[in-house]
Amino acid sequence: MEVPGPVLDAARSAHRVVVVTGAGMSAESGVPTFRDAQTGLWARYAAEDLATPEAWERDPAFVWAWYFSRFGSLAAVEPNAGHRAVATWAEVAGAESVAVVTQNVDDLHERAGSPDVVHLHGSLASFRCSRCDTAYEGRVDVPDAGDAQPERLDPPVCVECGGLVRPGVVWFGELLPLDAWERAVAVVESADLVLVVGTSGLVHPAAGLPVIGRGAGATVVEVNPRETDTSDVAHHVWRATAAVALPALVQALARTG
Ligand code: OAD
Repeated sequence: MEVPGPVLDAARSAHRVVVVTGAGMSAESGVPTFRDAQTGLWARYAAEDLATPEAWERDPAFVWAWYFSRFGSLAAVEPNAGHRAVATWAEVAGAESVAVVTQNVDDLHERAGSPDVVHLHGSLASFRCSRCDTAYEGRVDVPDAGDAQPERLDPPVCVECGGLVRPGVVWFGELLPLDAWERAVAVVESADLVLVVGTSGLVHPAAGLPVIGRGAGATVVEVNPRETDTSDVAHHVWRATAAVALPALVQALARTG
């Protein structure tokens, strides 16, 4: 795929790059997005039944079963060519730094080799006590890929206080982890290029990062097959998918030096 000239120019002159990713980054790995029609998780499930503190209070076993199944399905997916391109960008194409700030709760950036990924919305693979906040290091068995998803599953119990163990993700109505947010703002403020990949730009405060980057002087580029709430903030939009556009960009940078 041909890289649009303005995008290539912006990437070529950038020393400090930040790639801000959303669910579309992992779509070509087979991880469903949230808001795409038909295939998005929020097209099939009601977010307020699953991803809120109220849902957890009401029916923890229902919420746990859903996250447990999503955690299990991670074992069956692999990073795609887009994740790998981001991980090799600095080395292959000579940027000083390529930071990753993601809203995704999967670990595909890490598995592709990106060091030091900032997870704004937590991680499917971390768990903590819903009462005393202690990290849960105990066993969480991964469901077999072929197994039917149980409707309800009792969460593990915290060894410190006996509270129920909850997924280490951010739910609607909860604050982002402060350290992750502060790191995200810091890297975006010092970036020359903010590349926004595969997010609808609807969930705040994450959706504010491109605005902060632009305000601090970065060039903002959007990679997304569709128009989003971030498109207007971007200096350049590239209507392509992550696993196609990102390898094309990094290869073009490596070729042209
Ligand atoms: P969304 O599902 O809202 O948006 C996914 C975006 O990815 C859309 O703009 C699609 O057009 C785009 N997309 C789809 N396939 C793509 C591909 N192959 N390559 C590039 N882009 C593609 O997902 P997010 O913006 O990540 O929050 O959602 C934000 C937050 O809402 C999530 O982190 C989650 C959710 O509720 C929490 O769980 C707290």
